[in-house]
Amino acid sequence: MKQELTTLLPKEEYGKRRERLLKQLPKNSIAILPAAKVKNRNNDADFPYRQDSDFYYLTGFTEESAVLVLIPGRKEGETVLFCRPRNREEEVWDGYRAGPEGAISEFGMEQAFSIQELDEQMLKLLDGRDAVYYSLGVHGEFDQRLIGWMGKLKRLVRRGVKVPDEMQNLDALVHEMRLIKSEAEIEHMFAAAEISAQAHVRAMKAVKPGMYEYQLEAELLHHFMHSGSRAPAYTSIVGAGANACILHYIENNSQIQDGDLILIDAGCELDHYASDITRTFPANGRFSTEQKAIYELVLNAQLAAIEIIKPGLPYDKLQETAARVITEGLVELGLLKGNVETLIKDNAYKRFYMHGVGHWIGMDVHDVGRYKLEGEWRPLKEGMVITVEPGIYIAPDDASVDEKWRGIGVRIEDDVVITKEGHRILSKSVPKSVSEIEALVGTA
Ligand code: GLY
Ligand code: MN
Ligand code: MN
Repeated sequence: MKQELTTLLPKEEYGKRRERLLKQLPKNSIAILPAAKVKNRNNDADFPYRQDSDFYYLTGFTEESAVLVLIPGRKEGETVLFCRPRNREEEVWDGYRAGPEGAISEFGMEQAFSIQELDEQMLKLLDGRDAVYYSLGVHGEFDQRLIGWMGKLKRLVRRGVKVPDEMQNLDALVHEMRLIKSEAEIEHMFAAAEISAQAHVRAMKAVKPGMYEYQLEAELLHHFMHSGSRAPAYTSIVGAGANACILHYIENNSQIQDGDLILIDAGCELDHYASDITRTFPANGRFSTEQKAIYELVLNAQLAAIEIIKPGLPYDKLQETAARVITEGLVELGLLKGNVETLIKDNAYKRFYMHGVGHWIGMDVHDVGRYKLEGEWRPLKEGMVITVEPGIYIAPDDASVDEKWRGIGVRIEDDVVITKEGHRILSKSVPKSVSEIEALVGTA
């Protein structure tokens, strides 16, 4: 029996995307997109399969060993899927397969073949085309296969075969499409962010000094899975005390001490869409004076950056805004010394705030799409979804600052969609003011 998640995007979305891409492909071209490969973990155990984002975006097809081919204007069909044939015996071991029949009836393809026919059919499909659209350098082995087909065709020219002359980067087209989310995608990303927000709330409520970081990670994972998400969008970061100062801390194996701040950066993936939330809170339910000062500074920077989000705003204004608030605050606290304008010009804040303000988010947590157009930071546009995630990290061994500040790490991160009028915060149901957090921590 096939399992349907109520959280799946409507199936029509995938067909509409293929149509939009086909319209952008020049006459007599061909686009080729392979599915993700299975990745081995160790011996007979594989990592859970995750479909390639571009392939899934255009198919909604979750099986391995598949290839999508799009050929604008082709009489026999513009959309062709190669996939594993139905096989009773193998399906007993590995589960249901749609097969070429299902590719047409369930996934709306116009033509479908068994993946075993790929080499033979691709030579026919490539013959006579002018340009091949493909994302070179992403699918190692498949690149070689495509090069092999091109070589084979070249050896057949005397029989009248026409080899495509041009190789074009397919990323440029698909990634620009993915960057602007449809209404259905935004509602779906809201559902993902809402699950993650509630998981953060659960972890905040559950925390008690003496617990281990991985026990909080378990609270997050429990809520993700219990809500229909099958995996986190990236490995969760749960850093207590000075571990919060390690930007990509994923060991999550330290014991939480009374007086620690805990930084959790975690988000679930829901039907191939990511969420990405960070909150920082005191293990014992009360921020110390220094923790509160740093926390409120990061919060002010984050709120100031979010406030200006609207269509037309150049992307780099977000970092500029957050960096200014953080620099001014660090000077006020005595952690940076000198003239604010000079410090900003010299990027002095980077000692404590060393990463960017955020990133596109979508099917990939660090989603695709260009940040600059013709050398300029691009303006925000309705339908883009970004994260806003400033932070301050004071190393535990930073002898240049007063001892009381050392080992404090704070980041606050939300997912924000650009709307016609301004913006909407998708992850807003997890609190971030000092009073709300203090009221929530440890109340489970
Ligand atoms: N969790 C990855 C990031 O915040 O960019
Ligand atoms: Mn992020
Ligand atoms: Mn994050």
